[in-house]
Amino acid sequence: MFKINENYLKLPGSYLFSTIGKKVAAYSSANPDKSIIRLGIGDVTQPLAPAIIEALHKAVDEMGKKETFHGYAPDLGYEFLRNAIVKGDYESRGADIKADEIFVSDGAKCDSSNIQEIFGSDNKIAVCDPVYPVYVDSNVMAGRTGEYNKETETWSKVIYMPCTKENNFTPELPKETPDMIYLCYPNNPTGSTITKDELQKWVDYANKVGAVIIYDAAYEAYISEDNVPHTIYECEGARTCAIELRSFSKNAGFTGVRLGFTVIPKELKCGEVSLHAMWARRHGTKYNGAPYIVQRAGEAVYSEAGEQQLKEQVAYYMNNAKTIREGLISAGYEAFGGINAPYVWLKTPDKMTSWEFFDYLLEQANIVGTPGSGFGPSGEGYFRLTGFGSHEATVEAMERIKRL
Ligand code: MLT
Repeated sequence: MFKINENYLKLPGSYLFSTIGKKVAAYSSANPDKSIIRLGIGDVTQPLAPAIIEALHKAVDEMGKKETFHGYAPDLGYEFLRNAIVKGDYESRGADIKADEIFVSDGAKCDSSNIQEIFGSDNKIAVCDPVYPVYVDSNVMAGRTGEYNKETETWSKVIYMPCTKENNFTPELPKETPDMIYLCYPNNPTGSTITKDELQKWVDYANKVGAVIIYDAAYEAYISEDNVPHTIYECEGARTCAIELRSFSKNAGFTGVRLGFTVIPKELKCGEVSLHAMWARRHGTKYNGAPYIVQRAGEAVYSEAGEQQLKEQVAYYMNNAKTIREGLISAGYEAFGGINAPYVWLKTPDKMTSWEFFDYLLEQANIVGTPGSGFGPSGEGYFRLTGFGSHEATVEAMERIKRL
C-alpha cells in the first residue's frame, strides 16, 4: 500500500480562511435576507486600474498573432518585468538588487509556502505570533514543526515570538536560536510595522547567528510613514541573510490575476551553497512561469500612469482603514494598525474570545471579520478587519458596529 505524507494529518482543522468561508456560507444560507459585509479575508474589491487593463488587452492581441505570440515564459520571468521591478522597487530605495536576483511567480502565497522546500527539515523556524498561517502550515506539511499541542495551540519545534499590545506588536529577538525567521512588514494580521533601525537589528542578528530571514513585504505599498523601510535590502548586510517576498495582489489588485516575485541575492549562501542557485533549480523544475499577459500587466504597474492610478487605489483602501480605525475608537474599542497597513487589529470587548466575537459580529451586525486566534495563540482576544471593502460597505459596517 502506498504511504501518504503523514505530516498533513497533523494539521489542525482547515485553512483559516476556508473555515471562515464555510461559517459565513452557512449563516448566509440560513439567513438569506441579511446583507452581509465582508471585511474578513484581505481580498481587494476595486477593479484593475486602466493602465493595467490596457496592457492586458495589448498583450492578449499579441498572443493572437504569429509574430508576437509567446509560449513558455523564461524561468525567472521576462526581462522587461524584472527590470521594471528593479527600477521601481529597489533602485528608487537605494537597495542594491539586480534583475537576475528576481524570480517572478504567480504570487506571494505560493512563494511563502514553497520557499521552505530548499531548507533542511531539521531547521528550526521562528514566527511572530500572531502570524499569516501559511508560514507555519507549510512547515507542518514539510515535517519541520514537531508535535501540535491542542491546549496551547502551538507546535513543539516552532519558536513563537509574541506580538501583543504589551510590546507594541513588535517581536523581541528570540532566546532560542532559530535557523529560519519569518517576518512580515507591514504586518498581516496586526497592521503594525517596523522602523528601519529595528529591522537592522534583525538583519544583524541573522547574520550573527547564521539564520535566514524570510521577509514578506506584500503590503509595502501601504507604508505612509517616513522611517519605515520599504524593503529589507535598505538594511546593511541584508544581502547575506534575507529573502524577500513581494506580491502584486495588494498594491495593484492582482488577487485574481496572480503575480508576485521572490528576491534572493547572490551572496546569500549556506557555506558554499548558493540559495539563489537552489531556488533557480527549483523554479526551473517545478514552475513554468507566470503568463506573458500577466507579466505585461505587472510591467504596467510601474508605468507612470499605472503608478499614479495605483496610488489612488491604495489611498482608497487606506481611507477605509482610517474609517475603520476611527469608527472603532469612537465606538469604544481599542484599535491598532491601519496607518501603514490595510488591516485594523482590535481588542475584542468584554473578554470575548476571538471566535465568540466573530459569531457576535456576524449574527448581530452581519459583518465578517477574522478572529485573531486563527493567526496564533497570541491573537486570542483580538480581531482583524480589512480596509479592502468598498467605501460604502465600510462606512455602513462602522455604523452597524456603533449601533451594537
Ligand atoms: C489575508 O486575509 O490574510 C490575506 O488575504 C491572505 C493572503 O493574501 O493570502
